[in-house]
Amino acid sequence: MNILILGSGGREHAFALKLSESKKVTQLFVAPGNAGTDKIATNIDLDPTDFTAVKNTVLTNNIQMVVVGPEAPLVNGVHDFFLADNELKDIPVIGPKKDGALLEGSKDFSKQFMQKHGVPTARYQSFTKDNLQDGFAFLETLQPPFVLKADGLAAGKGVLILDSLQEAKAELEEMVTNKKFGEASTTVVIEEFLKGIELSVFVLTDGKNYKILPSAKDYKRIGEGDKGLNTGGMGAISPVPFADQAFLDKVEELVVKPTIKGLQKDGIDYRGFIFIGLMNDNGNPSVVEYNVRMGDPETEVVLPRIESDLFDLFEGVAHQNLDTKSFSVTPKTATTVMLVSGGYPEAYAKNKEINGLENITQSTVYHAGTILKDNKVLSIGGRVMAVTSFGDTIEEALKKSYNSIDKISFDKMNYRKDIGFDLV
Ligand code: AMP
Ligand code: GLY
Repeated sequence: MNILILGSGGREHAFALKLSESKKVTQLFVAPGNAGTDKIATNIDLDPTDFTAVKNTVLTNNIQMVVVGPEAPLVNGVHDFFLADNELKDIPVIGPKKDGALLEGSKDFSKQFMQKHGVPTARYQSFTKDNLQDGFAFLETLQPPFVLKADGLAAGKGVLILDSLQEAKAELEEMVTNKKFGEASTTVVIEEFLKGIELSVFVLTDGKNYKILPSAKDYKRIGEGDKGLNTGGMGAISPVPFADQAFLDKVEELVVKPTIKGLQKDGIDYRGFIFIGLMNDNGNPSVVEYNVRMGDPETEVVLPRIESDLFDLFEGVAHQNLDTKSFSVTPKTATTVMLVSGGYPEAYAKNKEINGLENITQSTVYHAGTILKDNKVLSIGGRVMAVTSFGDTIEEALKKSYNSIDKISFDKMNYRKDIGFDLV
């Protein structure tokens, strides 16, 4: 079977590598892909939100399944586009339709969904420019820090956490009246601040059945000790010691089951990944957000731990018989450390040649922002590559990742030297 993966990050490289191990996969295509996927698949240069280009690629290459990496094509309706097209309607898409993708595409929708279906989450209200004064009044009922979220997709930048009430009011006004985040902040969700440690839980569902994938902890800040600006993620660890079986059982009962049932009750036929960002507050889970895709760099530690055939699981999603598929996970720990370009997450250098990749033996390097040019691997993104290793302990896995990183170099390479600092 020929498969097309949409996206170009470390997540998509990890999907490609895992799927390439399946005996049932004949040819793999990644669009647009990167220098890493180029080695194990055929890259196709297209924008994943250009559905006509996606259709042409699918028909030209006899693609029989499409796996969607990032959220944008899902929120824009790539799955619905396939179902509405006579030539594409029988080709399974791994990823929800527009109605399900709203769980990530609209924070207001996802909060309403959680409330309606009894999923634990922070108390909230939503505001627009028409009820700005009510927004100010709601802020006054909350304790700092104040959490303001643009309703729509804002490239991971739409969440503000502010210490002063005055600042929170000013930012709310900026968001709804001056469209600080464009159309995404026409509506703003204000919610209570949740205490605790954050964890990413991943679920694969066919709409009826589900598998809970390994959970992971992401390190979002650019600086050591979790300081500085937010990034897409600077490293990840799986499994997470504080997410023991008792806690994960609670997550399944209180969060996963009501989420899957809620989707069914609301008539949302959801086929794909659900990424649940949650806070563990003294053993009690509370959902921070849903994403409708896998996390990045979490995928670079979650997928390597899955021992089952990923393609077989995707077939289960497509044919709604995920319950018949075997699923096993290695107890070993996987760690990944992201190498970024100096300056990221603000302006950063590009087109830097990456050296030393041929010397890596103890780790898997997942390319994120790279391209292949004249047989050289060049950086083109802020997050350049994720270096993943296994160990019996977090320390052992991290040691391998950092030893491998010592062999890799590019101009202005930066990375966090303290991934896992809070867990060991
Ligand atoms: P989101 O885009 O909703 O994931 O928010 C980005 C980040 O802001 C999350 O990963 C959390 O670290 C933080 N955050 C969001 N909502 C809350 C909340 N209610 N309480 C505490 N931290 C939050
Ligand atoms: N690493 C967080 C995310 O993928 O959204």
